[in-house]
Amino acid sequence: MTFDRSIKIAPSILSADFANFGAEIRAIEAQGADWVHVDVMDGHFVPNLTFGPPAVKAFRPHVKTFMDVHLMISPVDQYIEAYAEAGADMITAHVEAGPHIHRTLQAIRAQGVKAGVVLNPGTPAEAVADVLDLCDMVLIMTVNPGFGGQKFIHSGVEKTRKIRAMIGDRPIHIQIDGGVTPETAPLVVAAGADVLVAGSAVFKGGSVDNPGGYGENIRAIREAAETARG
Ligand code: DX5
Ligand code: ZN
Repeated sequence: MTFDRSIKIAPSILSADFANFGAEIRAIEAQGADWVHVDVMDGHFVPNLTFGPPAVKAFRPHVKTFMDVHLMISPVDQYIEAYAEAGADMITAHVEAGPHIHRTLQAIRAQGVKAGVVLNPGTPAEAVADVLDLCDMVLIMTVNPGFGGQKFIHSGVEKTRKIRAMIGDRPIHIQIDGGVTPETAPLVVAAGADVLVAGSAVFKGGSVDNPGGYGENIRAIREAAETARG
């Protein structure tokens, strides 16, 4: 994958039909998704439980685009190899998940996988300043992680602006996750984001039998975001 700052929409399959992941992934990709975002939760770092490595491995053959695996787990390091072997194209780990984010990012890259660092809404931009050269992406959470369908937290907009300035010319994506809609997407894109995760805003009103609904939702977010680019 060559680096560029075009807008990329990454639907979160946390909002998909859990009995039908293969068909859901094929449907969102056919309807224009650029990446597929997989939310891994451990019931400890966040108050919810989702996908272990075997589940992620089962998703892999259905993903033709780019599988972005968001690890909301603590500790992280001992699971990196398993999620890499499951087929993640990128693994993102939270700066709050342990004392050694630098080591964690090195371990992700050592697996030959792209690496991302994640900040919760309560964590300041400066927390990633010293690890940017180990990252292919910074993920700025605009909800407290754990659940889909929450309200966008606006302090993420100013944080995006700060991190975009810190990144400068380096080939590092800025991803936004939580409460992204056609209303909030332009705010973060104007501040410098290029990858937009959206769960409920993509899956609402659609289904594998009515995939056109997903397409309408993806296009609405993309068009709103691109307008903000001018
Ligand atoms: C939250 C997850 C998100 C979530 C986004 O813990 O990291 O990816 O699924 O869902 P929406 O877009 O509904 O806020
Ligand atoms: Zn996520």
